[in-house]
Amino acid sequence: MLTTIIYRSHLCDEIPVSVLPEMVDKASLLNARHQVTGILLFNGTHFFQILEGPEEGVVEIYARICADPRHHNVVELMRDYSPGRRFGKHGMELFDLRLHDGGSVLQAVLDRGTSRYRLTYDDRGLQFLRTFVEDREKEYYYEVPPAGLWEFIPDRDRTPVPDSSILFRPVVDPLGRRVTAMEAIPDAIPAGLQECERHRHNLSAVREALSKAGRSCPDGMTLYVSILPMTLVVIPDAVALLVSAIESAGLVPEQIILGVSETEVISRLDAFADAVRHLRQAGISLSIDNFGDGTAGLSLLAHVQPSRVRIGAGIIRDIHRSGPRQAVVQAIIRCCSALEINVIAAGVERPEEWMWLEAAGVIDFQGSLFTPEGTCVAWPEVRDAG
Ligand SMILES: Cc1cc2nc3c(=O)[nH]c(=O)nc-3n(C[C@H](O)[C@H](O)[C@H](O)COP(=O)(O)O)c2cc1C
Repeated sequence: MLTTIIYRSHLCDEIPVSVLPEMVDKASLLNARHQVTGILLFNGTHFFQILEGPEEGVVEIYARICADPRHHNVVELMRDYSPGRRFGKHGMELFDLRLHDGGSVLQAVLDRGTSRYRLTYDDRGLQFLRTFVEDREKEYYYEVPPAGLWEFIPDRDRTPVPDSSILFRPVVDPLGRRVTAMEAIPDAIPAGLQECERHRHNLSAVREALSKAGRSCPDGMTLYVSILPMTLVVIPDAVALLVSAIESAGLVPEQIILGVSETEVISRLDAFADAVRHLRQAGISLSIDNFGDGTAGLSLLAHVQPSRVRIGAGIIRDIHRSGPRQAVVQAIIRCCSALEINVIAAGVERPEEWMWLEAAGVIDFQGSLFTPEGTCVAWPEVRDAG
């Protein structure tokens, strides 16, 4: 199947531009062997490449390109299938945008195309090319430093040590070196329960988690607890029962954030919105969790505006390499900023994911990168070059 991969990347500072012609000659031969064609644009700092050909060849060559130490911040912008090639002539042609006049450079690139008919039509691949040539969207190219820049050092002295009978996960602001909230994890719901029983069980697990958290959470610490969204609807006095559990635990409603997962079906949105109004009236905040992983997404935000949105691991995994994930998360961040909703990124495993999200404006994080041993927080420190 004829496959297209489009990416952009950044030439490493220590690599002279003079190495490019030889690299291109070698790459052209390899591409020809795999029937891969395309074009490589260079603007003095960034590369933009369109690779087209049989899927296997394109994927293999792209994997080699990703591993090449001469460039970094390789971000895949598009992976798609098409009936024909846009740039079928060349094994790999390097097109240096700096050698062309600004007004005619786009046409000069398009003139290399082998399918004039297609090039005049609306085509995502060519739109990406145009955006790159015209130098748009550059403010979204976050330059993520190499993963090895940081080491993560566990800090056993300064991490709050909660009750060991309940599982806690900290929410951290890594650069501010602060634990901004603790998440108390309620016991899981046993399988096979009837709908109503499930919600009763869930509510009592959440109340139990609050009660244990009250005994061990540092004073005034924001406390996160997940609840099934429909528990708030199905159990008529759920909010009152939560408030009484909060008070008996010696906590105050204003320090509690209830997290509902976007992946859980909310079958009665109006009744759920009503329960949220009761929560808010009682002083409890709402978070929509696993945001972007479910089906409700932005339409849920149009109905219910929580105080927080937690983006799930499903969408932030390898975000530093994926243009589509970056675009989705940037849209969530922009939308939440317009609504004054705080964004948390959960499930962070890699330094590059964290650095990309920091560059995009996220401050609060959860994930094994910061808690490799469970509750104890490992803070990032710049690795000593020596
Ligand atoms: C910006 C850039 C674009 C590249 N494009 C190609 C390409 O289209 N085809 C290719 O075979 N190698 C390309 N390479 C070189 C590959 O990364 C790799 O060095 C080459 O495929 C040889 O593989 P090897 O290093 O495993 O021997 C490119 C490298 C860079 C930095």
